Amino acid sequence: MDTTVGGFPTTRLRRTRMNPVLRAMVRETELSPKDFIYPLFVVPGKKVKREVSSMPGVYQMSVDEIVRECAEVYALGIPAVIFFGIPDHKDEVGSGAYDDRGIVQQALRAVKKEVPALLLITDVCLCEYTSHGHCGIVRGEEIVNDPSVELLTKEALSHAKAGADMVAPSDMFDGRVGAIRKVLDANGFTTTPIMSYAAKYASGFYGPFREAAESTPKFGDRRSHQMDPANGDEALREVAQDIEEGADIVMVKPALPYLDVIHRVKERFGMPTAAYNVSGEYAMVKAAGKLGWVDEERVMMEVLTSIKRAGADMILTYFAKAAAKVLSK
Ligand code: PBG
Repeated sequence: MDTTVGGFPTTRLRRTRMNPVLRAMVRETELSPKDFIYPLFVVPGKKVKREVSSMPGVYQMSVDEIVRECAEVYALGIPAVIFFGIPDHKDEVGSGAYDDRGIVQQALRAVKKEVPALLLITDVCLCEYTSHGHCGIVRGEEIVNDPSVELLTKEALSHAKAGADMVAPSDMFDGRVGAIRKVLDANGFTTTPIMSYAAKYASGFYGPFREAAESTPKFGDRRSHQMDPANGDEALREVAQDIEEGADIVMVKPALPYLDVIHRVKERFGMPTAAYNVSGEYAMVKAAGKLGWVDEERVMMEVLTSIKRAGADMILTYFAKAAAKVLSK
């Protein structure tokens, strides 16, 4: 039996595109400010608001400014933020990361008090806190796994104690989700969810972030723990393992060059899936927009729509505020 229905001229796909009202009615993917998680960079001091040169519109901010920013973000209908901390002092073991008076911990307490309904997520990693810029402890040339994981569990616990609503390990060491889950549970944080950076690639698109977070490695790179951009099947194994260890939300990062991975992860696991529209993706759109080479607003909305269409339930993006403003027009 021929199951083909309505070839041309019976079917004209343009019919549902002619009228903007109908075009909107058949639209399959709708963005909302509720889809966004806004990344914020917290620095020591007071009244500090320093723009990141490779990320126009993105700032390093002191806690007082972060509080103000969070109120604005919440008022725009964005439900969540993720904090990255840049400490006063860096050392070999990243002790600022798990200091209960650390910079992220201060921000958590201050924002919880002033904007209690905003969901506060923390990036759990050591790279912003270590003098060498690596995500864990370094012995010789090697970034060692298990001792680093132990420090990450301390960091996650310290964040939870300071009021984090969710922790997000971004290091890509083996076994860290399970280890963090165990430590949170043992300390009474059984209901604090973990959003794992599950399939995180060793990407050139993190360049501007490393300026924002002052976390460029002093030697070597992150290829011994982050994923090879050429691999897709392996991403599914990474995600499966994190789910087994207790991840509540799984993330694919970066987003645009890995839309296929987002799609496969969502299809395979049906888990709440996040995608990180990273700094380099942001910087490219901003730069081309500034040069007048693309229509920045239009391209921004198209990029975010594509990430959601691929299967992401939530998007970490520096465009959150700008896109929320467009959506409320
Ligand atoms: C690690 C971390 C990185 C990003 C988020 N968490 C950088 C890295 O792995 O080097 C990148 C985010 C971005 O590029 O926007 N703490």
